Order: sequence, then structure tokens, then C-alpha cells
Amino acid sequence: MDLQELNKRFSSPILSFAEGPGGRPLARLQNEYGSADVALHGAHVLSYEPAGNEPVLWVSQKAIYEDGKAIRGGIPVCWPWFADHPSDSSMPAHGIARTQSWKVIEPRANRHLALQLEPTDWSHSIWPEKFELRLEITLGPALEIRLEAANKSNRPFQAGAALHSYFHISRINAITVHGLENTTFIDKLDNDREAQEADPISFDREIDRIYVETEAACLIRDAGLNRTIRVAKEGSRSTVVWNPWIGKARRMGDFGDDEYVSMVCVETTNAERDVVTIQPGENHVLMARLSIDS
Ligand code: BG6
Repeated sequence: MDLQELNKRFSSPILSFAEGPGGRPLARLQNEYGSADVALHGAHVLSYEPAGNEPVLWVSQKAIYEDGKAIRGGIPVCWPWFADHPSDSSMPAHGIARTQSWKVIEPRANRHLALQLEPTDWSHSIWPEKFELRLEITLGPALEIRLEAANKSNRPFQAGAALHSYFHISRINAITVHGLENTTFIDKLDNDREAQEADPISFDREIDRIYVETEAACLIRDAGLNRTIRVAKEGSRSTVVWNPWIGKARRMGDFGDDEYVSMVCVETTNAERDVVTIQPGENHVLMARLSIDS
């Protein structure tokens, strides 16, 4: 569907469609609570600006907007596995949802944008299950991102997932992340060793951790911007915290060498022991709610 058709069928006083980065279609939600842009490629939230506030999300200046590629920043949808495929390293990292074009569908309520992904020949060739994904984005006092995954196969399947949120911050050494104290994490930088820490997380080097068995909301306290971002969640038992620091930033083609100072990922996830099993005909809902604490 081209932009004209999208606008004709789905636009409303709070929703419109326009050309986004890379000449690709973008949905824009705008109301008294602020604005949010969502690329149809990957159902990828690219920006969220609460009214009267700085942008909440970060996108790399070097992000690539191309078919088959994931966008660096915003909120990539990772599904049905998080990070590397559990048994086959030739599979795309973070699953099959973030690199495909999603369809706009009728929302269940106003204030929503609703997008849908069903199997394609490509997805079927690497992951044989039948599924339906719906991503609903609601702009209210918080930005709510709701991923509903339905099993349309005749057998159960396992699904890992993440709403892999990249947050805009003043400076990496000016923030602390709260809510994961005394929670077990798998340290991807230390041979998946399990550990816990008593203090809020502060950053002076690369961090790549999967916190498991936690439903806690996280707070990103930013002394530089003098604000706190709240990341609340439902249907999620893992939280991933990631900053690549300069070494990994340099190794990524779509990430500026010095950009690691202005971002942090706090990801609403189900990974490792928290991967969910979805029975035939059933579904699972993963939800993140992003807001600024006053
Ligand atoms: C994080 C992982 O969630 O995503 C990191 O924990 C990974 O290990 C990062 O480097 C980015 O992944 P990708 O596939 O988008 O480069």
C-alpha cells in the first residue's frame, strides 16, 4: 500500500503516514501527550517525544534503512529468539521480525497504531512455524508497546522476544539504572557467568547482561538531563542491559564510534530460562510502557 492509500484507509486526527528515513513509510502518532514515529519496516518505533520533553529514544546517525537490515536504535522487535538462535548460528540475530515489512491493520481502539506480521516465504524457510504477530502502539501518558504473538501451528513452539529499546541519555557516565539490584544476571561478557549486584547499575565499560526472572520496572536516572525514564513491563521475565562502549561501537558498521556515550539499552525481554512456550491456538503478550517520571 502506498502512502496515499495508507492515509486514506487508516489516518485519523492522531495518526498519519509519511515518508520516513530511507524513503520508507512511517506512521506518525501525535496527540496532546506527544508524538511517536514508527517505521513499517520492522514495526520499529523510531522516536518518542512526550509533550514538553526531550526525545526518549536514541537512533544512530549511521543507522541503515534497507530491506533485510535492522535499524540501529529505536525499538527493534526481536522474535522468536533473542540474540543468537539457540542452536543454529547461521540464523539471523534477534529473529525474523525486525527486518521485515509489517502491514497496517485496523486498530482495536483509537489512540492506537496496529501492525501485523504473518509468515512469509523467507521466514518460513528459516523458521517453519505458523504465527501471527501484532504490535499495537498507544500514545497516552506513557508510550505503550504491546506485542501479541499467536501460535497458528498445530504444535507448541518456544518464543524468545525483546522490545530492544535504545534510550537517549545525556552521557553514559551520568546515568544509573535502578530496579535490578540483587537480581541474577547472565554476563555475556564473562562466559555467561551468573552474578548479582547490590547497587544500581552505573557504566564505565561495556555491559551486556541478561537479568532473569524479573518483572521489575526499571528507572534510568539521568543527572545530565535531570529526568528519569521509567520502563515498566508485562509478560516479560528478563531485562537486558547493554552498552557496547567504544570497542564494540567501532566494530559495528551502523554505529558511530563515539555514539555509545549518548545511549543505553534497557530491553523488555524473554530470554534464556524465561523463553515462553506458546500452545497451538494460544498467544502471548509482551508489553513495555515507557514514560518520564515527574
Ligand atoms: C543486545 C545484545 O541485546 O543486542 C548484544 O545483548 C548485542 O549482545 C546487541 O550486541 C545488538 O545486537 P544486533 O544484532 O542488533 O547488533
